[in-house]
Amino acid sequence: MCGIIGYIGNREAQPLLIEGLKKLEYRGYDSAGIGVIPTGKQHIAVQKTEGKIIDLISVLEKHPLASGCIGLSHTRWATHGVPNHRNAHPHFDCSKKFLIVHNGIIENYEALKAKLVAQKHVFRSDTDTEVIAHLIEDCYSGDLLEAVRKAVKLLRGAFALGVISSYQPDQIIAVRTGSPLIIGVGQHENFIASDVPAVLDSTNRVIYLEDGHMARLTRDRVEVFSFEGERVSPAVHKVAFNIEAVQKQGYAHFMLKEIHEQPDVIERMLKFRLKGMAVGLDGLTILPEHFKRVKHIYIVACGTAYHAGLVGRYWIEALTTIPVTVDMASEFRYRNPIIDKNTLVIAISQSGETADTLAAVKEARARGAKLISICNVVGSSLARESDGVLYTHAGPEIGVASTKAYVAQICMLYLLGLKLSQSFKKISTKQRQQYIKELKRVPGLYRDILHRKKVIHRIARKNSHFGCFLFLGRNINFPSALEGALKLKEISYIPAEGYPAGEMKHGPIALIDEYRAVICVAPQTSLYEKMISNIQEIRARKGKVIAIATEGDLSIKKHAHDVITVPPLEENLTPLLVALPLQLLAYYIAVHLGCNVDQPRNLAKSVTVE
Ligand code: M6R
Repeated sequence: MCGIIGYIGNREAQPLLIEGLKKLEYRGYDSAGIGVIPTGKQHIAVQKTEGKIIDLISVLEKHPLASGCIGLSHTRWATHGVPNHRNAHPHFDCSKKFLIVHNGIIENYEALKAKLVAQKHVFRSDTDTEVIAHLIEDCYSGDLLEAVRKAVKLLRGAFALGVISSYQPDQIIAVRTGSPLIIGVGQHENFIASDVPAVLDSTNRVIYLEDGHMARLTRDRVEVFSFEGERVSPAVHKVAFNIEAVQKQGYAHFMLKEIHEQPDVIERMLKFRLKGMAVGLDGLTILPEHFKRVKHIYIVACGTAYHAGLVGRYWIEALTTIPVTVDMASEFRYRNPIIDKNTLVIAISQSGETADTLAAVKEARARGAKLISICNVVGSSLARESDGVLYTHAGPEIGVASTKAYVAQICMLYLLGLKLSQSFKKISTKQRQQYIKELKRVPGLYRDILHRKKVIHRIARKNSHFGCFLFLGRNINFPSALEGALKLKEISYIPAEGYPAGEMKHGPIALIDEYRAVICVAPQTSLYEKMISNIQEIRARKGKVIAIATEGDLSIKKHAHDVITVPPLEENLTPLLVALPLQLLAYYIAVHLGCNVDQPRNLAKSVTVE
């Protein structure tokens, strides 16, 4: 939520900030703004606007900023205050000598604001952020770093901040607690940013600022301190992906590009994690003896990652006999879960920055649970919080709708289940090897489906007029139905509901008539015939049926209006396979309806507020 970038160096700040900001637009697109200290001047020049970065660029074309080599920029996902010009970042103090950009929420801003107003500070926005600028103004007595340090000690909540001042135009102050912030380390120039892609055009050397740390950046130096003022020496990491990974590379949308990357993502993971027929999970630092003591596993996650967790439950329970509970992180943290040192928590998150997931794992750890996370973003807050991290290495996911991250998460959960099964001896070595052999077929099967994507495109166009979709699945493919529905609703805004097919008659069947479409996830599994009965119940009520079925299934054609086929595969692994046509179906429907699939309304990629 919200993307921030800052630059200090010898180059013109504005173009670098705008280009970097574009790479952060997935984090929010309600408003955008930029502030630069013009070279040799005593003031800070600011432009901002409601809307997207493209709107900010139009404003800058009409009202260009004076030339300067230090500045900050921001793209907003609104929390406090409606998305308009007044609430767009950056924000000034009263004197307009201090300028700040912020990602996060200041929980005690009302009390702070009341005090500041009583001291005659004049506020120009309805945001929580603006209090920080006024606090810095109050705390300043010649040293910007010290003023920011004093100010942040008064704040409660989550924040990543960038601060500049025309009193000291040779430095940017960066602060992190609870919201991500990296420092891009260049040659005679340095950057701050919410995420690595924003700086990749200029440098691949980054510092992941820790919670409770702040930094002073000048052209030639980065100094990092704790909030207590102690100097720390952070590691400088070389980023493993390059700028191409965060470009569309000829695809119409990031979502489509990311869908197409999936066979490579799975292939790469299997190559890295499978040593012959044995599963090697480096990063899983918890010992096999400890696993044997585990009495209960909780999987916590949000959104798509939660659906991945639901799939994982089937596998882990079947492969270990340990009971698994899957919780939405936002609920888990408030329901007083029963946890002790024999509990293992598996947290799943693409970004590793989801506020609810982070709060849930902190709660679980405080009660003595061990924590493994499945995470895509290297160095994220969740990864740092965990006893063991299984990185999915799916590469940057820019489309707000999660696709390749989901597939990588479920693939990793399967590998984790297989790995744990070695300790629990629930299945024979031969059986495990058979599963691994099947798993290795998946990238090739993905490529087959992608070659035939025109069929899915045609079926999507044909059915895009339906005003409501029901997604049904059974057993291990019930989460597939949930995920299919989430994909469709978030990018097309069509109401869509995922349900276990067996539950249909307990309520959702009332929705069915000739104006609704039902997507039935019906590959050849042990419950196939029961699914066919459900399809007949839908047909009897004039519902339109689109089935995802196994190639060679001739009988489904008699029951469904449209059929999308996937190649045959071991039943356990079907959620991995059906994910692809469900993603494509949602994508093509949304594109046909003219929706902005990469930046759906009201959403942001990384939900760093509660
Ligand atoms: O970064 P995370 O995996 O923790 O994000 C969790 C959800 O916010 C995310 O999956 C969201 O539901 C996506 N928009 C789904 O496509």
